Amino acid sequence: MALFRKKHDSGSSSGQAGTASRMPSHIAFIMDGNGRWARKRGMPREYGHAAGAENMKTIVRYCGSIGIDYVSLYVFSTENWKRPKHEVDAIMDLFSSYLDEAKREIGKDDAHYVFMGDKSAFSEEFREKMTELEKLSEGRKVTVNFAINYGGRDDIIHACRELLKDGCTDFTEEEISARLYTKGCPDPDIIVRTGGEKRLSNFLLWQSSYSELYFTDTLWPDLKTREIDRILADFMKRDRRFGGLSNDSTR
Ligand code: FPP
Repeated sequence: MALFRKKHDSGSSSGQAGTASRMPSHIAFIMDGNGRWARKRGMPREYGHAAGAENMKTIVRYCGSIGIDYVSLYVFSTENWKRPKHEVDAIMDLFSSYLDEAKREIGKDDAHYVFMGDKSAFSEEFREKMTELEKLSEGRKVTVNFAINYGGRDDIIHACRELLKDGCTDFTEEEISARLYTKGCPDPDIIVRTGGEKRLSNFLLWQSSYSELYFTDTLWPDLKTREIDRILADFMKRDRRFGGLSNDSTR
């Protein structure tokens, strides 16, 4: 049975010092391991991505059901274009089908879908699909951020260009944050990477300054809600100081 049924009474934890005794408000996932999951089954990598996409739906639904406010998903990085064309095409086809399904089932997950990244690489039709879904799902409970053609460095450069366009020659952290693809969204409380690697791979570089990190060997298609519960339990034990001191000043 799920350990976490609703948000902890004391609310979410974003930006507050002290032990992370509260549920995270924002959880981000680096969904790694689809290719290896497929290889273990003697199947092509695309098969792993399809399984990964299915699991993504399960995990998003679960996070929403336990009161997480924001879920961010690293679907496709600015570097993933280096993969063979057939693999890139397979991921884009899966993503396009996902968008169609999300539109058909709008409201089912009570999710507001947001797309972060450089959309100029996509066709007008694809861009319109994303914009339409963003608008149709506005105002719903859980915000689901899809990082697609996303890079943390590109995010920062894009924000700086926006500042220049706005005529800013000097600026604050807040003014940069307000121009990132994640604008309006709190920084992730925790970033979870599946698949055994221990790095951020250009994901949310600015926003992860004080994120807790969690690495698991589990391959993304195998990540179960039980493990999400264990990750949340681990998060809630962590002492988040944000550069200050713990509420328990002996630490
Ligand atoms: C990393 O695994 C995964 C990706 C680059 C793509 C992430 C995509 C999904 C989870 C599914 C796509 C979902 C939609 C809706 C399109 P990898 O391929 O690097 O795996 P490996 O490290 O085992 O090779």
